[in-house]
Amino acid sequence: MSEHILVVDPDDSTRLSEVGQLTALAYLSDGLVDQAHPYIPQLKDARTRATDADLLVMADGADGSGSAVGTITVVPPGSSLAELATGREFELRMLAVSPLERGRGIGAKLTTAAMRRAVDQGAERVVLSTMESMHIAHKLYLRLGFERREDLDWVVIDNEDGSVTKVSLKDAEDLPPHNTAIRLFGYSWDPSTSNV
Ligand SMILES: CC(C)(COP(=O)(O)OP(=O)(O)OC[C@H]1O[C@@H](n2cnc3c(N)ncnc32)[C@H](O)[C@@H]1OP(=O)(O)O)[C@@H](O)C(=O)NCCC(=O)NCCS
Repeated sequence: MSEHILVVDPDDSTRLSEVGQLTALAYLSDGLVDQAHPYIPQLKDARTRATDADLLVMADGADGSGSAVGTITVVPPGSSLAELATGREFELRMLAVSPLERGRGIGAKLTTAAMRRAVDQGAERVVLSTMESMHIAHKLYLRLGFERREDLDWVVIDNEDGSVTKVSLKDAEDLPPHNTAIRLFGYSWDPSTSNV
């Protein structure tokens, strides 16, 4: 079956809803978060990603009019969605492939398309974060030319009131041990070091 990668229009409510559900489902099915986790509403919120960044979707059909099978977001400098990027860096976020479509190269194709899009928009560096437990994603990013950057690692802590606190690794070391602290692994890619 053929697939096509498109940029989602922020006014395309039907597609936004589908992509939001797909993203949350991809994370839930891998046990990366549970349904009550404060990240779930952000994963579902494809509209903000389409408005404040470039939301890419891979969809079935030569013209991409079929069902969504995967998604990734290309965050430009200065966007509200940047978590790790500083200065002129671009950031990739929320790569997700339908659990029904894994292992067919969709994640790699989407990441490559996102890297190309960032370069086309002038990126001199692209960064991203992964959860420690995202072993398949770690392998994928390294194969595509990203470098593991422990100096970019950071920590997110779930608070009892449902909010989250984000701190640097160094600041996290000064906090009391916390059950819900998750370490995020940093990666970066310099387009001058490898082609896409
Ligand atoms: C990570 C994810 C996007 C990969 O999607 P995918 O379409 O299956 O990825 P690909 O088919 O391009 O495969 C990438 C690599 O992982 C391997 N892989 C895929 N599924 C695998 C599995 N279930 N077990 C072991 N390896 C697997 C592939 O063989 C491939 O290896 P290679 O690079 O050596 O060829 C998908 O698993 C997912 O949505 N996970 C949940 C969300 C997530 O972790 N997102 C990352 C955000 S930072």
